[in-house]
Amino acid sequence: MKKRIFLYSAAFMTVAVILGGLFVSKVSSNVYQNKVESFLLSSANMIVYQMELQSQNELMQDFDPLAVKYSKLLSNKQDKVNPDVHVTFTDYNGDVLGRSSSLFSIENQITKKEISDAIFRKYGRSIRIDKRSGVRYLHIALPHEPSETVVRISVSLAYITTLNRSLFLYTFIAIIIGLLLAFLASRKFNSTVILPIKRLIQVSTDIAEGDYSKRVTLGASDELGKLEKAFNQMAEETDHKVHALTEKNTRVISTLNSIDHGILALDKDKKILFINLAMARICELKDSERECVGCSLMEVFRNVPLSNIIHETYRDNSPKSQDIQFGLPETLYLKVSTNPINTPHDKNKINGVIVTIQDVTTVTKLEKMRTQFVSNVTHELKTPLTSIRGFIETLRAGAINDAEVAEQFLDIIDIEADRLSILINDILQLSEIESIKDDVQMDYYALRELFLDVLPVLEKAAEPKNVQIHEQIDDTIIMKVNPGRIKQLFMNLVDNAIKYNKDSGEIWVRAYQTEGVVVLKVKDNGIGIPKEHHVRIFERFYRVDKGRSREMGGTGLGLSIIKHIVNLYNGSIKMTSNPGEGTEFVIRLPL
Ligand SMILES: Nc1ncnc2c1ncn2[C@@H]1O[C@H](COP(=O)(O)OP(=O)(O)OP(=O)(O)O)[C@@H](O)[C@H]1O
Ligand SMILES: [Mg+2]
Repeated sequence: MKKRIFLYSAAFMTVAVILGGLFVSKVSSNVYQNKVESFLLSSANMIVYQMELQSQNELMQDFDPLAVKYSKLLSNKQDKVNPDVHVTFTDYNGDVLGRSSSLFSIENQITKKEISDAIFRKYGRSIRIDKRSGVRYLHIALPHEPSETVVRISVSLAYITTLNRSLFLYTFIAIIIGLLLAFLASRKFNSTVILPIKRLIQVSTDIAEGDYSKRVTLGASDELGKLEKAFNQMAEETDHKVHALTEKNTRVISTLNSIDHGILALDKDKKILFINLAMARICELKDSERECVGCSLMEVFRNVPLSNIIHETYRDNSPKSQDIQFGLPETLYLKVSTNPINTPHDKNKINGVIVTIQDVTTVTKLEKMRTQFVSNVTHELKTPLTSIRGFIETLRAGAINDAEVAEQFLDIIDIEADRLSILINDILQLSEIESIKDDVQMDYYALRELFLDVLPVLEKAAEPKNVQIHEQIDDTIIMKVNPGRIKQLFMNLVDNAIKYNKDSGEIWVRAYQTEGVVVLKVKDNGIGIPKEHHVRIFERFYRVDKGRSREMGGTGLGLSIIKHIVNLYNGSIKMTSNPGEGTEFVIRLPL
C-alpha cells in the first residue's frame, strides 16, 4: 500500500512537472520568438523606409557596407542574450546584393521561403537551421519595390535552445525534489493513515473470527480518532450483544437438552438446524451423526415412517402425529408429532418443521404386558372354574345320588378350588411385590434357619418321587430380610426342582457368603430346560410344557415371583440348564 501510494504520487509528480516544464518552455519560446519577430519586422521596416529616403544612385552603391551598417546598428539595439542581427539584401531574382556577415551564403536565395514570400506576398518569414553552422535562424524579409530589392534580417534562435536547456535542468531538479517530497509524503501517509487502517483491519478480522474482546488503539485525535472511538463503541456493543445472545442460546439449548422428548428442527430444505440430546439418544445417533447440523434429514435418519411423516408435513403444510416403531434389535415405540414453521406474513410458505418424539416404549410394553396378563389370568381362572361348574352340573343332573361318584367329583372340585386359591394367592403376591419398593417386616435372620423351616414341607413333596434334598447352607449367614419372602424363594425353587425331576433324583441347596454377597444355589439333576425357553422362563404364566406343568398344579408364576423377590433385594438371578442333565439357579443377594 505504502509502495503503491509512493509510486502513484511519484508518477503524478513527474508527469505534472514534465508537463509544466514543457508548457513553460513552449510559452517562453513563443514569447521570445514573438518579441524577436516584431523587433525584426520593425527593423526591416525601418531599413525599407531608410531606403525609400535614399536616391536611386545612392542605392546603386555597394550593399555590403549598408548591410554591415544596419547589422551593427540593430545588434546594438538587440538585447545582450542575442546580439547578432544579420542583414542581407537580394534582388528580385534572389541574387545576393550585399550581406552583413560571411556566415551567410552568397548563393541565389530565391528558393528560400522568406525571400520568395517577400517578393510575391510582400512579407516573408521562416525559421530554418543553417546547414553550415547548424544554428536555427529566424528570417524576416520585406521588399523595397522601387529598387526591386529584398531586405532580410536574420537572428539566431540559439537563445531559445539555451533557455529550453536550463528549463529542462530546472524541470529535472523539480522532479527529484518532487520525488523526495512524494517519498516523505507517502511515509507520513503510511504512518498516519495506512498503519491505523491496517490495525483496524486486523482487529475487525479478530472480531469477525469470534474474539469480541479486541479493541483498537490508533492514538490519533483527528477523524481517525473519531473512527477509533466509534469502532470501539461498536465492538463493545457487539461484545455485549453476542454475550447476551450466547447466554440466551445456551439457556435455550440446555432447556431443550434437558427435555425428555426428542426435538429436531429442520429448515425449509429439510436440513437439520438443531437436534437435542434426547433425540440423539432415542434414535441412537453415533457421535459423528450428533454433529449433524447442516446435514440433510436422509443422511442421518434412515427410518422410512419417520421420513414419510416429515415429508407429508412439508407437503401439506399441516401438523401430523403418528406412532412409529424404531430401531433393531430392540424395538422402540415412538410417538412422533410434527409442526410446520410458517413465515409470519405468509402462512402458506413453509420455513421449516419441528419434530418432537416421545419414547413411549415402556408405556407401550407395560400396556402390552397388562393386556397379556389380564388375558392369561382370565384364561387360568376360567379353566378350573369351567371344570368346577362342569362337575356341579353333572352332580345336579343325578350323579349326586351315586355316593361313590359324588365323592370323586367333590374331590376334583376341591382340587380345582385349591388350584384357584393358589392361583389367586400367587397373583396377589406378585402384584404386592411389584407394587412395593422396599420390603416390610424386615429383620435379621439366619438363612439356614429359614430354609430348615420349609424343609419338612419340601421333603414331604419330594417323597413320592423319592427325590433327595442335600443342604449345605453356611449357618453364619445372617441377612436382614422379610422371612416370608425368603421362605417363598426356597419353596418355589426347590418345588420346581422336585416337580421337574426324575424319580430318585437329587437336589443340592447351597449358600455361602463372599465379598458382601450371599450366593444361593439350587441345583437338580432333573429333566432340564431346552435352550429356546431360557429367555422366557421368568415371564408370568410361562411354562415349558403347559400340560405337564398344569397336571402338577403349576401356574407358571413361581419363577416370576422369585425374580421379583430377588429384584426387591437388589440381587440377581441366573439359570443354567441342559435337557436331561438338570438345572441350576444361582441367586446373588447383597448383604
Ligand atoms: N428346575 C427345573 N427343571 C426343569 N424345568 C423347570 C425347573 N424350574 C422351572 N422349570 C420350567 O419353568 C416353568 C416355569 O416355572 P414356574 O415355577 O414359574 O412355574 P410352574 O412351576 O409351572 O408353576 P408354579 O411354580 O407357579 O406352581 C415350569 O413350568 C417348568 O417348565
Ligand atoms: Mg414353579
